[in-house]
Amino acid sequence: MVNTDEFIDDANAEIREQLGDSTAVIALSGGVDSSTAAALAYEAVGDQLVPVYVDTGLMRKGETEEIHREFDYMERLRVVDAADRYFERLEGVTDPEEKRKVIGDQFIREFETVAKEVDADYLVQGTIYPDRIESEGNIKSHHNVGGLPDVVDFEGIVEPMRDLYKDEVREVARELGLEEVISERMPFPGPGLAVRVLGEVTREKVRIAREATHVVEEELEAYDPWQAFAVVLGKATGVKGDNRVHGHVVAVRSVESRDGMTARAQELDWDTLQRLQSRIAGTIDNVSRVVYDVTHKPPATIEYE
Ligand code: XMP
Repeated sequence: MVNTDEFIDDANAEIREQLGDSTAVIALSGGVDSSTAAALAYEAVGDQLVPVYVDTGLMRKGETEEIHREFDYMERLRVVDAADRYFERLEGVTDPEEKRKVIGDQFIREFETVAKEVDADYLVQGTIYPDRIESEGNIKSHHNVGGLPDVVDFEGIVEPMRDLYKDEVREVARELGLEEVISERMPFPGPGLAVRVLGEVTREKVRIAREATHVVEEELEAYDPWQAFAVVLGKATGVKGDNRVHGHVVAVRSVESRDGMTARAQELDWDTLQRLQSRIAGTIDNVSRVVYDVTHKPPATIEYE
């Protein structure tokens, strides 16, 4: 990208030209990519755009409230509360790729319902360059790339940021006036907290991953990580008062990266690590142990599943 202003002008012109008078839908996730794509598209075509946020129950803490704060000004914003449907379909599903498939499929159903209701002709997507590369290499089945267009019969797909890297998207977001909580937000996987709890997705594990991730984001802000989050690994023994308890093990991961394709685990000081364990094990119910992940990518991936 040569120049942010120029990029925005060109993207607006391209979106207007592609859409004409048609209605377009975009799936908002709360992340910087879809938020920026929505802001770009809204600037281009106003209320021809229907932004759709599906609350899967697998989102970060406060995400739905943030969506309202940031996007209520868009007349046709739709917020769908689908958490019960997701948890029901995820019952008994333990394989990571199977989880992604179920979540992707449910997402398509939710989105399709709205797209049909509003009679949408076009789909706007916040796909960025690294998404396309990873999707082509099929490293993981990223549900937010592909999928949708095959099922809903759209006339066309608009991907105004298809050639941008993440840092360029953030520049565009800032230029468009998106709040810092969004423009500076860490990337978050499409399947959400489901890939941050190992094995079956239960409300209890997701609650722990959500609360612990919130603590990690707060405590590690000063380290300016590319991504920092918590993962619920399994159960281990701990003590509470005089009793042995069998609680969850939470792993903290914090990495530096430019595009997510490779990453380095961050070096954290001991006080920070201790604050993390004390807040996570001390304030979140049913956590017995906190560990820090020191593995780079490769050999590990950033996410655990
Ligand atoms: P990995 O775990 O493959 O992650 O090193 C690289 C980047 O991609 C994100 N990620 C995903 N994003 N759907 C997404 O939209 C997914 O299924 C998915 N899996 C990983 C991850 O958060 C990191 O930024």
